[in-house]
Amino acid sequence: MCSAGVRQLTVLAELFKAALDRYRPESVAVLGVAGGNGLEQVDCAVTKRIVAVDINHQYLDEVQRRFSTLSGLELQCLDLAEREVSLAPVALVHAALIFEHVGFGVALENALSLVAPGGKFSVVLQLPSEEEQGVASTKHKSMLTLKENFVLIDIGEFQRLLEQKGFQVIEQETRPLPAGKALWLGVFAKAGDACASASEHDRS
Ligand SMILES: C[S@@+](CC[C@H](N)C(=O)[O-])C[C@H]1O[C@@H](n2cnc3c(N)ncnc32)[C@H](O)[C@@H]1O
Repeated sequence: MCSAGVRQLTVLAELFKAALDRYRPESVAVLGVAGGNGLEQVDCAVTKRIVAVDINHQYLDEVQRRFSTLSGLELQCLDLAEREVSLAPVALVHAALIFEHVGFGVALENALSLVAPGGKFSVVLQLPSEEEQGVASTKHKSMLTLKENFVLIDIGEFQRLLEQKGFQVIEQETRPLPAGKALWLGVFAKAGDACASASEHDRS
């Protein structure tokens, strides 16, 4: 893998760790888990159930091979964009670079349905490079197709959509990548829970 690819994987793992450290979830679902990047950071003493979801069973085989000793690991091979997912909700749903592949629609409904009461939804989206932003502003308003099955998502629109569905952003950060790109992490909570999180944050 090229150094830019390695750097991206490193930043993705760091953002996952940031969400784990901040919220210390007792259960987590990783949507679009691919080869399991970042799973080595899960502290099983804190997080007892880890649901790894992907459409590609070969990726899940790889996760099983790499993380067979991770207690509480549950592999789910399913298409998030196709059908209603019926899994027990978790305290943290982590979705990194998945909505660029699956779009919103059913996949977003599935993701939100997995968030347990009081739970968090952490999303990583790729920001365009300046060159891509130029293309986006002339050709498209909110989404930019970079390659087959990968469409950049406008963060403002994503947040507005989540607000309509009753989720507010409670934390966000942006990490730079090579070639002027960047990854954005947004953590969402249900509107009522978001106020509670804010007061907890103020007190600490
Ligand atoms: C860019 S990778 C995700 C990277 C990974 N989350 C990380 O942090 O390193 C996108 C993943 O989404 C999976 N995927 C794509 N479409 C999907 C779908 N409809 N349902 C479930 N998983 C899907 C792909 O198989 C791939 O593993």
